[in-house]
Amino acid sequence: MIGEKTEKAINDQIKHELESFYVYLSMSAGFHEQNLNGMGHWMRCQAHEELAHAMKFYEHILDRGGSVTLFDLKQIHTGRQSPLQSWKTAYEHEKFITGKIKNILKISREENDYASEPLLLWFLNEQIEEEKSTDEIVRQLTMLGDSPNGILMLDRKLALRAFSSGSPLDPGDNNIVA
Ligand SMILES: [Fe+2]
Ligand SMILES: [Fe+2]
Repeated sequence: MIGEKTEKAINDQIKHELESFYVYLSMSAGFHEQNLNGMGHWMRCQAHEELAHAMKFYEHILDRGGSVTLFDLKQIHTGRQSPLQSWKTAYEHEKFITGKIKNILKISREENDYASEPLLLWFLNEQIEEEKSTDEIVRQLTMLGDSPNGILMLDRKLALRAFSSGSPLDPGDNNIVA
């Protein structure tokens, strides 16, 4: 049976992961609106990952005999912004999420809920990748400044990210990343 405080913290985290889904889906739309379809594609892939993160926590609560609560989501990002601004927001958001995961780990240890630890350590490790990838793009965009050539080259590169198979966010063969 999952610890009471750990269950509460993980339910809060399901909300944060779903809010992350919202953030990246919103950024994706903003990039597609600006014809930065590679960035839009990358953000769709990321949104898919966030949904999967929410579901990992959701399953964990159910597996441990707990109760899932889905809270109202906050709108953190509002569509179209400059690429640099969006990626900065993404990086800051991932640092915020890392702090949340660390806090759940602390709570779970305080109430001896060691069965949550492998999952939480998996997430901490995942956050290294999330922070690294968003920070790298912030740095590259900072280097590029206002260069449309550079931004379009980066956009092409970001188009190469692969979707997990069978994602409902994958536009399939409607040529969005071509
Ligand atoms: Fe996440
Ligand atoms: Fe990731």
